[in-house]
Amino acid sequence: MKPVWLASSAAAAGLSLACAAGWPAEVSAQAATSNAGEQAFQKCYACHSVDPAEKGAEGPLLKGIVGRKVASLAGYAYSPAMKAYGADGKTWTRERLDAYIADPQRVVPHNAMSFFGIADAGERAALIAWLAKQR
Ligand code: HEC
Repeated sequence: MKPVWLASSAAAAGLSLACAAGWPAEVSAQAATSNAGEQAFQKCYACHSVDPAEKGAEGPLLKGIVGRKVASLAGYAYSPAMKAYGADGKTWTRERLDAYIADPQRVVPHNAMSFFGIADAGERAALIAWLAKQR
């Protein structure tokens, strides 16, 4: 006779398999594309907002960040490193944002953003696409 815990964990495994198979593939794919960027932003939200009404964030407001000049938000006290990086007037293109989000300290050494980076290129792409809509 099987121990009870074995029988019940087998039943649980069967149940979760049935659930996973129960979702139509298109539905979960759609949910992934529309929500992935916003979901990835949760990693930034501890320090950044996209809503000017939300004050007191440690990092600069990211509304309109795609295409914005580096270190250009009036009233924000950027680090010397970030100011120097933006001194030639460069903007946050999608490519530059992608590289920065992947590895902030490699792209702007000694900048003040203590964030490890997002390694997953697909997650970065979804995040940047979502940020581009926050205007
Ligand atoms: C632990 C806090 C923290 C987290 C988490 C964080 N940031 Fe930052 N971020 C900062 C700070 C602080 C700065 C200002 C850096 C400086 O002045 O050197 C900054 C600066 C930036 C800038 C430059 C803005 C400008 O006006 O030039 C971008 C772009 C940015 N962050 C994007 C992100 C994104 C996207 C995420 C999430 C994937 C993220 N950050 C996560 C704190 C954070």
